[in-house]
Amino acid sequence: MAIESLSRQREIYLNGFAGKSNVVPVSFTDLEASARKKLSEQAYAYIAGGAGNESTVRSNVSSFEKLKIVPRMLRDVSARDTSIELFKHKYESPIFIAPIGVLELAHRDADLAVAKAASAMQVPYIFSSQASVPMEKVAAAMGDGPRWFQLYWSKSNELVKSFVTRVENCGCSAIVVTLDTTLLGWRTRDLDMAYLPFLEGRGIAQYTSDPVFQKLMDELEPAANRKLNWHTLAGLIQMTKNYPGNNFFSKLVSKRPIKAVQKFINTYSNPALTWDDLKFLREVTKFPVLLKGILHAEDARKAIDYGMDGIIVSNHGGRQVDGSISTIEALPSIVEAVQNKIPVLMDSGIRGGADIFKALALGAKAVCIGRPYVYGLAVAGEQGVKEVLQNMLTDFELTMALAGCRNIAEIKTSSLMHT
Ligand SMILES: Cc1cc2nc3c(=O)[nH]c(=O)nc-3n(C[C@H](O)[C@H](O)[C@H](O)COP(=O)(O)O)c2cc1C
Repeated sequence: MAIESLSRQREIYLNGFAGKSNVVPVSFTDLEASARKKLSEQAYAYIAGGAGNESTVRSNVSSFEKLKIVPRMLRDVSARDTSIELFKHKYESPIFIAPIGVLELAHRDADLAVAKAASAMQVPYIFSSQASVPMEKVAAAMGDGPRWFQLYWSKSNELVKSFVTRVENCGCSAIVVTLDTTLLGWRTRDLDMAYLPFLEGRGIAQYTSDPVFQKLMDELEPAANRKLNWHTLAGLIQMTKNYPGNNFFSKLVSKRPIKAVQKFINTYSNPALTWDDLKFLREVTKFPVLLKGILHAEDARKAIDYGMDGIIVSNHGGRQVDGSISTIEALPSIVEAVQNKIPVLMDSGIRGGADIFKALALGAKAVCIGRPYVYGLAVAGEQGVKEVLQNMLTDFELTMALAGCRNIAEIKTSSLMHT
């Protein structure tokens, strides 16, 4: 693998001996607390928050704690292999970087910092539809680093097709369709702050850089002039800054930044989507398509019936349905339903190596890391993301070895006990 576990562990201790402290805290609690200090109140609320009373956010984590690893001894774990194979690609480790939108809220280098850290670690990066930087620019920063793309299915199939064409030209090797966000969840913290980053033109770079979206913007009737106050003026300035192009005043006068936000809000999600719509995607791409947000065994079976190539068990980090089943609770029934016909990945609540181990033991082929890398990004940009990934992988490799497993295939349901 890209980083040998003991060398990372040794590096931390030797750095300490030389008086050098870690760039990002190792424990998740301290990492989140450090990130919180760096983030604006609105940014922290947007990243950390969940839907409703946030019971799903909590249960994603607490459900992992109900599962216990039962380590086995004397199994010669001196040589270890954490690699996996998915869609005929070999990946060095079973972790992916979850698609997370509006990363500019965490750090000005946003998606570019994550891309560089990911490719340095050879950890696959799933680009978000809500990225702050267009996919072409992010791909260019990654060299041959592995990457996928996450699609929000908009109301325009022409736009969906345009995204797919761009994705295929960006070196991405799979498309992840997120199904759980056809409407935005009731996100209490954001509502209390009355803050939605998209209104400032943040996180819409995949759209404003798209030729079909630009054409759709032209069809828009000009917005009625609203009364300006200092707050709306500040938003307008931000919106204009975020719109592509260097000449602030000509952008402002063109009103295209406002049109972009308006069009985005009207178009980006489609609550009318049904299973039959997936046929369109199947027709426009030969790339593997995975469905993200599956939580019910029946939906997992449907994914197979509709010719999908994989599933990501996810509840969007608890941001959509309060009181939802946690993903580690949902995983076993989905793995059983799928019968190994297509790979099952999972996310939501992965905070350390033990969580990765438990997910793999229950049949996940890989997991996606979410909030932890965003907090690393907030604390120390590219280096912060890199250290979070290194720590996560090291923790996982040590957990695997100390549980008596030399490779991923040896991690089995029998490695776990339920309490
Ligand atoms: C701030 C934030 C933004 C997100 N943006 C997206 C997105 O653009 N597309 C998507 O499919 N999922 C998005 N997600 C969900 C993640 O891909 C992933 O499912 C979730 O972060 C997992 O939960 P965890 O971070 O608590 O482990 C977002 C999550 C967060 C926290």
